[in-house]
Amino acid sequence: MSGRRNSIWIVDFILLSSPHIYYICGMSTEKAIVMSGIRPTGYLHLGNYFGAVRNYVKLQEEYTCYFMVADLHALTTHPDTKELKTNVHRVIAENIACGIDTDKAALYCQSHVRETSELYLYLNMLAYLGELEKTTTFKDKARMQPDNINAGLLTYPVLQAADIILHRAIYVPVGKDQEQHLEMARNFVKRFNHRYGEVFPEPIAYNFGDDLVKVPSLDGTGKMSKSENQLATLYLADDDELIRKKVMKAKTDGGPTENNSPKPDYIENIFQLMRLVSSDETISSFESAYNNCTIRYGDMKKQLAEDMVKFIAPIRERAASIQHDEAYLQKIMKQGAEKANESASKTMSLVREAMGLVY
Ligand code: TYM
Repeated sequence: MSGRRNSIWIVDFILLSSPHIYYICGMSTEKAIVMSGIRPTGYLHLGNYFGAVRNYVKLQEEYTCYFMVADLHALTTHPDTKELKTNVHRVIAENIACGIDTDKAALYCQSHVRETSELYLYLNMLAYLGELEKTTTFKDKARMQPDNINAGLLTYPVLQAADIILHRAIYVPVGKDQEQHLEMARNFVKRFNHRYGEVFPEPIAYNFGDDLVKVPSLDGTGKMSKSENQLATLYLADDDELIRKKVMKAKTDGGPTENNSPKPDYIENIFQLMRLVSSDETISSFESAYNNCTIRYGDMKKQLAEDMVKFIAPIRERAASIQHDEAYLQKIMKQGAEKANESASKTMSLVREAMGLVY
């Protein structure tokens, strides 16, 4: 292993164990790197916000951040590209509306960084059919689109690993549903480093709280999602009336009949949503009412709906004010791609050298 690579690895190791250390023994090091992405397959929703974007906004203050719109990943399930441009622009606008500061973080489009595809190709040689076929998201999507089980769908986690390690990122802010993809990315990194020398640090899924977040859907089944069960998902673009309508439809029952009884899942989900947007006082008053069997779910849902409206409306309005400003969005994507390309080309020089592809 070259001395240079060795020293990069030591710095990474120290950063990983103590991400806030930027100066080690008087030697300046670079900030730890953060990377994440969102597919442009529909409107962003509360799950995308609380699972991912909320963390992006915090992380951009302290780390070198790369956030992108995963248009290539979208092709694995949405081969029709008629809506793609509008969707990419909207996701960029929604990220900005949620608080991404494009002077701090690189905000770009995946296909604008061509080296992603090169690294994806190399990593494909280190990914095995058996593990790809066992991936939960592959099995789910293959079930949902039996007529289009394409190779891109199978190697989806490989492309995701390429996105992340292209910037040699350590922290990947994502929701709970991405945990397995991150585990696979670490496996690909281990195999690459073992075979070709230590080039990449191992990335980890990141959340500011303890556990990764899963924002539940309003119908008591599964999670909020961009394309499934749209009436059970709160989108950041929903208007006030639609938010109220969706929340009021959330599944409840006649209420508890014994003090301090456990909550059924669909009731716990409503409390969980309340914990995201309501004040501590509001939450504890409904908790007590549940525990002493005086809770009125109609009142609880009305309160939740109003707190959701208060939370979502400013984001919706900010996004609406920029999402049709093509010149502005293109300028942002260009600026983001420049930063991302600079980082990608540095990594790919290391990769080609390590793999012996320099003749
Ligand atoms: P995507 O577009 O499905 O979701 C974007 C982000 O939102 C999170 N998320 C949720 N978090 C909590 N509760 C929910 N109900 C919920 N629904 C979605 C996801 O965990 C994700 O963080 N494969 C990725 C996109 C991607 C990527 C990457 C992510 C491509 N390359 C590199 C990280 C790093 C995806 O499909 O996300």
